[in-house]
Amino acid sequence: MKVGIYGAGAMGTILGAYITKAGYEIDLINRNEEHVKALNEIGAQIIGKIEFVQTVKAITPNEIKDKYDIILLMTKQKHNKEIVESLIPFLKEKSLICTMQNGLPEKSVADVIGKDKTCGCTMSWGATFHGKGISELTSEPNRETLTFSIGKYGNNDDLLFNYIVELLNSMGEVTIENNFTGARWAKLMINAAFSGLSVITDANFGEIAKNKESRLFALKIIKECIEVTKAGGIKVEPLQGKDIIKLLDYNNKFKRYISLMLIPLAMKKHRLIKSSMLRDLKEGRKTEIEAINGMVCEHGDLFNVDTPLNDKIVSIVHLIEDNKLKSSWSNLELLK
Ligand SMILES: NC(=O)c1ccc[n+]([C@@H]2O[C@H](COP(=O)([O-])OP(=O)(O)OC[C@H]3O[C@@H](n4cnc5c(N)ncnc54)[C@H](OP(=O)(O)O)[C@@H]3O)[C@@H](O)[C@H]2O)c1
Repeated sequence: MKVGIYGAGAMGTILGAYITKAGYEIDLINRNEEHVKALNEIGAQIIGKIEFVQTVKAITPNEIKDKYDIILLMTKQKHNKEIVESLIPFLKEKSLICTMQNGLPEKSVADVIGKDKTCGCTMSWGATFHGKGISELTSEPNRETLTFSIGKYGNNDDLLFNYIVELLNSMGEVTIENNFTGARWAKLMINAAFSGLSVITDANFGEIAKNKESRLFALKIIKECIEVTKAGGIKVEPLQGKDIIKLLDYNNKFKRYISLMLIPLAMKKHRLIKSSMLRDLKEGRKTEIEAINGMVCEHGDLFNVDTPLNDKIVSIVHLIEDNKLKSSWSNLELLK
């Protein structure tokens, strides 16, 4: 079976290291030549919550020769159309591209290669890229925290789909979701709240959960997302065994108080995660914000639900992208 991780950066370097460590062959593909060189010469250097160095095979996109059975897509999703188009010559008749990106990315992949070649997977753990073969795991290194939820988008080849499940299982628990849209929305809510607030404040998820003001904004952002899913008839699936709707869909002050108390506990294992959009900003690039909070706003418009906080997060991030603002705690004032 020929498998590659396309865009092995923060997350892909770690996933590739675990999969290789478990004895599978997988190519780590990245356009960053320095990173590819270090991966081949030194190995994948995993730091942070766990430390190990794993010999891996890495190549640049120009070095791809063979056709792949499976590609795990782990670039940011802004350039999905061009990237997936460039991968078409390296796909077989039944190959699968599994998009591991945040947001609701399956459609953009399927628009290029068709639904039957597309599947999706959420990753409920975090990582920070340090370049030159080094990636930092920012979630607790146990199977219950390093989880994946995977789902078919079309009539996928069963053998290949099950092989992806087997590969991911080398790192953490994998849930196969029949209602994958519901699993996507569960993850999107958390990203809209915590990645959204992380990118405007430059804080990590733990700091956002701890501070009373940002925690309340996080809860209100999630509440907007919940209202969108209700209006759209989307049944939200549990995330890492936690039913977000049951825990956080408040309708009175007492329930809101309880929901607020639960947030720091729920975020404990992921408190060191910072949004990977902060690295994009540091490098002067546009972020994935339209694919995260922007996606919530788009669906709010579609289902006639107001999403004022998600709208503001998107606007603030665009101001930061345009160098008119800096990521800073004081940006919370702009959400009021
Ligand atoms: N980081 C997290 O904690 C986290 C958690 C859950 C989900 N996610 C999601 O996972 C996805 C990947 O995130 P990440 O943090 O791993 O991103 P990342 O560190 O930026 O990794 C993506 C890598 O792909 C490379 N790349 C970009 N375009 C390419 C191309 N055309 N050909 C080959 N390589 C290319 C990038 O190189 P350059 O540096 O040159 O751009 C980068 O090294 C995103 O959708 C993100 O939302 C991230």
